Amino acid sequence: MKILLLGKNGQVGWELQRSLAPLGDVLALDRHSTLYCGDLSKPDELAQTVLAYQPDVIVNAAAHTAVDKAESEQELARVLNTDAPAALARAAAQVGAWLVHYSTDYVFDGSGHHARHEDEATGPLGVYGQTKLDGEHAIVASGCPYLIFRTSWVYAARGGNFAKTMLRLAQEREKLSVINDQKGAPTGAELIADVTALALQRLRAKQSSDLRGIYHLVAAGETTWHGYASHVIEEAKRLNPALGWKVAEVAAVPTTAFPTPATRPLNSRLSTDKLQQAFGLVLPPWQQGVNRMLAETL
Ligand SMILES: NC(=O)c1ccc[n+]([C@@H]2O[C@H](COP(=O)([O-])OP(=O)(O)OC[C@H]3O[C@@H](n4cnc5c(N)ncnc54)[C@H](OP(=O)(O)O)[C@@H]3O)[C@@H](O)[C@H]2O)c1
Repeated sequence: MKILLLGKNGQVGWELQRSLAPLGDVLALDRHSTLYCGDLSKPDELAQTVLAYQPDVIVNAAAHTAVDKAESEQELARVLNTDAPAALARAAAQVGAWLVHYSTDYVFDGSGHHARHEDEATGPLGVYGQTKLDGEHAIVASGCPYLIFRTSWVYAARGGNFAKTMLRLAQEREKLSVINDQKGAPTGAELIADVTALALQRLRAKQSSDLRGIYHLVAAGETTWHGYASHVIEEAKRLNPALGWKVAEVAAVPTTAFPTPATRPLNSRLSTDKLQQAFGLVLPPWQQGVNRMLAETL
């Protein structure tokens, strides 16, 4: 199997380099790659990469992921999150390749209290969510076989993320204030990459396009950012009590306490029933991956 991986150094991309390796030949690119273009800001050249390399599978882990910055960089966010996946999808259709792409809970408006299914109405609240949703639509319309995995609250031992920010702040401050009215599931880049590889194995075994579609891929369970932060700090203190922890209180505050350029969905719960049934997988509780990441990081 020839696999073209884009965004090889992001949280998910880095883990994909590991998980995809046993499946075949992986050409892993980032925006600086020279022999082949891996720059999402150049959709036409990206398409040329696909036509030249002729992969069986394209895995796109690159994106404009800076949610607040996207509000003031609409054009760039659109090129990276909509135009580039659209070009990849058209090229994939031309060469008969599968396209694996990642999307987000931000395609929803965050209303209600239930875990959303894949076919529920979307309603992005900002530029990032809208451009990611338009990217999904372009892929679906292209006619290429695709897997779109919508995930949420991604963390990894490598790269910047909420958990690592909390670890740093817990060593700098006595009191932290963390939002407790947004609900979702922290999801490890390792898990996303492993599920991607397992899904590709399943596709290869089945040799059919029945499995094409959008799937929600998040760890099991749910929490708030406050619950997540409290868990991270408690576990980190247990793992390394002597690290110089200053934090004595993690206060719960509403979203309104931290105004941001982009509005966040309050309800980021995603149902993974479809993914688990289609691919015969079990998604572990979110704490499992977070504890593992902390053990590695600390
Ligand atoms: N992070 C989350 O909480 C989250 C939540 C839901 C869904 N997702 C989705 O999951 C996927 C993976 O996210 P992640 O957490 O791994 O993101 P990440 O760590 O921010 O990685 C994104 C990658 O995209 C690359 N990139 C940015 N501009 C590029 C360009 N012009 N050309 C090529 N590459 C470019 C970045 O490269 P540089 O390192 O060179 O900047 C980076 O390696 C994305 O589709 C994202 O929308 C993420």
